[in-house]
Amino acid sequence: MRILVAGGAGYIGSHICVELLEAGYEVVVIDDFSNSRPEVLGYIKEITGKDVKFYEFNILDEEKTEGVFKENKLDAVIHCAAFKAVGESVSKPIEYYTNNLMTTLIMTKMMTKYHVNNIVFSSSATVYGDPKVVPLTENCPLGETTNPYGTSKAMMERILTDVQFANPEMSVTLLRYFNPIGAHASGLIGENPKGIPNNLMPYIMKVATGELPCLGVFGDDYDTPDGTGVRDYIHVVDLAKGHVLAIEKYQEPGVHICNLGTGTGYSVLDIVHAFEKVNGIEVKYEIKPRRPGDIATCYADPTRAKEELGWVAEKTLEDMCRDTWNFAKKHQ
Ligand code: WQD
Repeated sequence: MRILVAGGAGYIGSHICVELLEAGYEVVVIDDFSNSRPEVLGYIKEITGKDVKFYEFNILDEEKTEGVFKENKLDAVIHCAAFKAVGESVSKPIEYYTNNLMTTLIMTKMMTKYHVNNIVFSSSATVYGDPKVVPLTENCPLGETTNPYGTSKAMMERILTDVQFANPEMSVTLLRYFNPIGAHASGLIGENPKGIPNNLMPYIMKVATGELPCLGVFGDDYDTPDGTGVRDYIHVVDLAKGHVLAIEKYQEPGVHICNLGTGTGYSVLDIVHAFEKVNGIEVKYEIKPRRPGDIATCYADPTRAKEELGWVAEKTLEDMCRDTWNFAKKHQ
């Protein structure tokens, strides 16, 4: 089977490519390197011994996107070509809505035109908004999203659901990621955002390497055990393996919704202290004001993933911290 991974040179996309190649799939990648680097393609080859078929452009280029569908008989699409930082989206709504919604519309237009009937979409726990109840199941209401990133993901889910309704032969899978962190054990691929990181773990990583002086902890007055934000951190390799299972198990036409999380919540300071303990490194931090768009607590009930995909997150917080630092040391 041949799978198109949109955004396949990115942090999550590259880990998905590795797992797909190692599972015996052929992989086609579209990426514009807006949030990734060309050398990642070489690392994927180094890890798996296999090449992806690569196209460098932004999916907003409809003609080029159609060319990929013309040139390759695709069996499924994994769409992870989206901007994904909560904080950044608050200050850049136009970029987030344009990129995230238009890429989804163009991708689904080509899928229906070329009869590619299976899409696995990189959605997010942010679609639940500020949850009234945790842990979150897939039946929890889609709350009032608190930032343009989360709202764009909820809109992308709506688009895909409506496209499936109009094309009943399609299988649409909405994988709601919680907080992906960590890196492949090889240390070759991992999260290395351009510029100042928006997300917690890449910021911790850059403080640990000395590239940044100090971590700002966005608020310690939330209603959580230590006052800092609680999230469900999931190893990116576990997340990637969930995609391979989704491609395999969710073949039936319809809309399949699944949380990918560990079911355990950790606070910001839990992550800082775990990183320090596992790697024997101090991470300087100071408490800063809350970040606009943030919520206090969010973690998954991963029951459906286990029952329907046979998927359970296997890697521990220690693995996530160790693999992040291993990646950082190889890319300093
Ligand atoms: C985590 C916690 C911050 C940075 C992410 C992704 C999003 C989606 C959901 C996949 C919060 C705190 C952060 C910093 C901090 N994932 N923090 N200082 O906002 O939960 O959303 O997961 O689709 O793509 O953005 O993740 O890592 O930004 O924040 O204190 O410098 O760390 O307040 O409590 P978030 P995050």
